[in-house]
Amino acid sequence: MQILLSEEELSQGVARLAEHVRHDLGQQPLTVVGVLTGSIVLVADLIRRLDCPVRVGMVWASSYRGTATRPGQLDLRLDLLPDLTNQHVLVVDDIFDTGHTLKALLTELEQRGAASVRSLVLLRKIGRAEVAIEPDYVGFEIPDRFVVGYGLDFDDGWRHLPYLAALDADEIASGKPRAISQVGAIERSTDTP
Ligand code: IMP
Ligand code: MG
Repeated sequence: MQILLSEEELSQGVARLAEHVRHDLGQQPLTVVGVLTGSIVLVADLIRRLDCPVRVGMVWASSYRGTATRPGQLDLRLDLLPDLTNQHVLVVDDIFDTGHTLKALLTELEQRGAASVRSLVLLRKIGRAEVAIEPDYVGFEIPDRFVVGYGLDFDDGWRHLPYLAALDADEIASGKPRAISQVGAIERSTDTP
């Protein structure tokens, strides 16, 4: 496993994203719609950097099963969604990979009478898009590697890592990522002056 983005870099990226949203929306009330489960850490960090009135709703989307690292059938669950009529909506997801999840979600949300619907992702994988839409706000462009941490999972684990790490091919093949907490500890100790 290899650290792609440190805790510090992620924090700076989220601050930049929040600044863009604040610039575009000003003090208008905003409904943030997080995509479970990968967006939980991002939503928590992002909303604390907004200073307009904020409501938070959640939807659930999944296109991976177990240790697969390529998407399968997309499942969407929208029953936790608040009323979006006349609201400015910001859909927040962890990563834009093929783009099918965001496209399907935006199609659903745009039918609910919102005043505007924007989208924000922490990460976009380079060269993977299969749809014509683009997220309005992107935190970081990353290479086509399978990544974990800061909310993103592999086989439902590793979401709690405070940094973003790319899995090695053998870790994906065996389904057993290795000793990442030690990598993090080493990185943090060398960061300390
Ligand atoms: P898309 O529909 O292909 O854009 O996939 C988006 C969803 O796939 C994201 O919300 C993630 O949950 C998941 N995903 C895509 N790439 C990765 C990855 O590298 N690590 C973990 N999850 C990923
Ligand atoms: Mg997801």
